[in-house]
Amino acid sequence: MNEDQARARIAELRAAIERHRDLYYRQAAPEISDQEYDALEQELATLEAAHPDLAATASPTTTVGTDLDARFASAPHSRPMLSLANSYELEEVTAFHDRVRRELGEQADIRYTVEPKLDGVALAVRWRAGALSLALTRGDGEHGDVITAAARTIAGVAPRLPDGWRDLFDGAVDACEARGEVFFSLERFAALNREREADGAEPLANPRNAAAGTLKTLDIDIVRRRGLSVVFYQLFPLTGDDRWDADHDLAGHRAELAALAHLGLPVTAPVVEADGPEALAAALSSLETRRPELPYQIDGAVIKVDRTVHQRRLGWTQKAPRWGLAYKFAAEEAVTTLRAITLQVGRTGVITPVAELEPVPLAGTTVGRATLHNWDELERKDIRPGDQVAVAKG
Ligand code: IVH
Repeated sequence: MNEDQARARIAELRAAIERHRDLYYRQAAPEISDQEYDALEQELATLEAAHPDLAATASPTTTVGTDLDARFASAPHSRPMLSLANSYELEEVTAFHDRVRRELGEQADIRYTVEPKLDGVALAVRWRAGALSLALTRGDGEHGDVITAAARTIAGVAPRLPDGWRDLFDGAVDACEARGEVFFSLERFAALNREREADGAEPLANPRNAAAGTLKTLDIDIVRRRGLSVVFYQLFPLTGDDRWDADHDLAGHRAELAALAHLGLPVTAPVVEADGPEALAAALSSLETRRPELPYQIDGAVIKVDRTVHQRRLGWTQKAPRWGLAYKFAAEEAVTTLRAITLQVGRTGVITPVAELEPVPLAGTTVGRATLHNWDELERKDIRPGDQVAVAKG
């Protein structure tokens, strides 16, 4: 690829990524799977690395997608609310460990935790003097939308922390913040769609997008009736002006989870401990095996370096902590019969082929139709009504 081709492809990728971010974060209506999206980001990062002169300060490779929405007030985050680097292969996990080892030194007693990566919507909640004071979405990572009223409808978001909460931080702080993920349990999501069907309403397509849309619904009675859930995976102290008070941090990730549980807040589980690549591989595979038992949708596991002193040494990039790594599981698949292929005409006149399927349960929902973005593939394989087809969750 010459310089001009690289420039053109980089521009094309940046525009595509911005568009898909808008669909995912702002409209809760993605058109491509997470895997396809990650591949676009990966291609852009590779091209920018090969052509440093074409890298820009405002590229999606250095920013997180934003859900900021003009209908809401926004407020600054106490500390940046970042994303996580993604991986799909065990070799990438080993490479991550090698880098951690290199930076912390051969002698360091490195401890990892491995926990589910919930496919939900990020939430930050603050309690001042023990009382819930503010809830924010991730927004652009620096500012979030104020959604305190919606957060108050979620059972796991305690309006008051138990007395003695300060003791967790040596009694020296006035406020604290927990971060986690808002989602619909698979049970609640199925019930919600049964209710909608009975009312003649369109079913919601998937739990993550339904949670994102619900959290940004202005009518709080609707939010309450929908029944969102939350689990938390981070807890840290705040200063008097709502900034991160790093001096009173807890000792590590396990300590944060224990403190959250002590406060009666729901936490991510199961959490598996590991000390190196073999144990990490075993932990990832045990989590993947337990995936069907979990009451919510997950899209992978999160590996974290446990100890706060280690996390500080490793630090953060503009986009993600260098002490954490998301390991994405393969999309869930199901096999069913293709009944027919129909043509759908969009509002703008675009014609999209649609597969009409024998309804099949997939990742907590029932799939009966699928938009065919891979029309060429189907032609090549000569797929016809009556054939058995594999459907993956997008
Ligand atoms: S830790 C500094 N732990 O995944 C960021 N994130 O793709 C640390 N997520 O923005 C995040 N489950 O919204 C963490 N167990 C978990 C998670 C988790 C889901 C979300 C979170 C994050 C996104 C990154």
